This record gives sequence, structure tokens and C-alpha cells, in this order.
Amino acid sequence: MERLGKILANAGVASRRASARIIKEGRVTVDGEVIREPGARFDPFACQIRVDGKPVTVSTCEKKTYIMLNKPKGYVSTVHDPQGRLTILDLIPLTDTRLFPVGRLDRDTEGLLLLTDDGHATYVLTHPRFGIEKTYVAVVKGTPGEDELNQLRRGVRLQSGHMSSPAVVRLIKAYGSSASVEIKIGEGRKRQVREMFNAIGYPVKSLTRTHLGELSIGDLKVGSWRYLTQTEESWVRKMAARSEEGIRSCKRIS
Ligand code: URA
Repeated sequence: MERLGKILANAGVASRRASARIIKEGRVTVDGEVIREPGARFDPFACQIRVDGKPVTVSTCEKKTYIMLNKPKGYVSTVHDPQGRLTILDLIPLTDTRLFPVGRLDRDTEGLLLLTDDGHATYVLTHPRFGIEKTYVAVVKGTPGEDELNQLRRGVRLQSGHMSSPAVVRLIKAYGSSASVEIKIGEGRKRQVREMFNAIGYPVKSLTRTHLGELSIGDLKVGSWRYLTQTEESWVRKMAARSEEGIRSCKRIS
């Protein structure tokens, strides 16, 4: 949701100040209704906005920020923690954007966490209905055999009672008392990977997310962050565009 004045300015209608004036003059309609408050918020992709009767083309190239973080253990994946624990924003000293994590990683999980101010991207990348694949490497206690890995592949019952959806699973290496296993899932219930391994009797000792869809943590160091490359950003934007199909109504919230 964005302020109407900002939407017009981003769409190149006029400067922020001039857009506010145009709105106050009653020249702007949103879904047919005249709106005179520049601060009223709308979803620009879900509304038909007109200035003097002419439709405003909302650019999907509006500047959004996309940051990949290699989250270390010990940080919570929220922007504010009432208990005063370290949060991921302690690792990213940016003050000029309102970034939110795309989904969550447990405090004791490491790896790829995307942060953005793009609500459409967040929706598509996290909602199970879009099935965006997340890849994890789990180091587990003991070495699961093919029978147990097949249970994960087919689906196991989680504590909530839900069955996990089919997963892609492969044993990477057995070390004797532990093993590392790669697991790809299209959903992201709370502590899902840990619960899945618990369900087959091989508790997780450490967990790292290596991929989110086409994004890969690559050689980004634990605790470091970077902006997405152009190719990565185009993929995220392509995903974000999928959400527009699902949004039909224009929700005014102020
Ligand atoms: N599954 C988990 O169990 N933990 C995470 O942090 C992410 C997925």
C-alpha cells in the first residue's frame, strides 16, 4: 500500500508536491471515486487510478530494494524484537528503507534471507500456493537410509497435524555420527525442516538455507549482505508480478 501522492510521483505524473496539489484539486480518481487526500493509501497494482480522466500507468520498475543476507545463528528474523534480542537489522545498517524479511528463519538457522520493501514479492515467495522452492542443508544426528529419506520425499506428519508436501531429498555425505542432507521444499511452515527430520528420527544439529527459488547464497559470508544482482532482481520482480493475478480488489486503508 502506498500513498497516492507517491504513486503519482513514481508513475511520473508530476513531482511529489505537484502530485499532492493535483490530488487536492480533485482531479484524481481511484476506481471511479474522487480522492482528495495525497496521504490516502492504495495498492497501485490493484486500483484503476486516473488523472483528469486519463489512466495512470503504474510502473512495475518503481524502485524497490532487495537485499540478500547470509543470516548467522543467534539473530531473530524480525525487524524489531520486544525481548531485545539481536535482529537481522542489526546486521544491515540502512536507515532509508523499510525492509522486511521474506519469510522467517529460526534463530538457530543460518543462510539465505531476502529482505525487501516489495510486498508483492514477499507474498509470492512465501505463500505456499506459489510453491517457490527453498533449499536447505541439514546436518543431522546419525545417517538416514533411503527408506527414511523416502518418507521425507513422500511427506511426513508435522506437529500441527499437516502432512508435509513432497520434498526433493538427497544425502550429501555421511560422517559416521552425523550426515548432511539437502532438502528442497515448496512450503515453509514454522520449523518445518527440523520437524520433518524429527519425524524420521534424525534430529537436526544445524540448518542452513542455501537457495530461495533461483537465488543462491553462493559465497556470501555468514553475517554479510549484498544487493541482488540485476538478473536476481529480475527474477524476483517476475515472481512479484504473479501476485497481481491474485489481487482483485482495491483496498483503501486510510
Ligand atoms: N525449517 C526450519 O525448521 N527452520 C528454518 O529456519 C527454516 C525452515
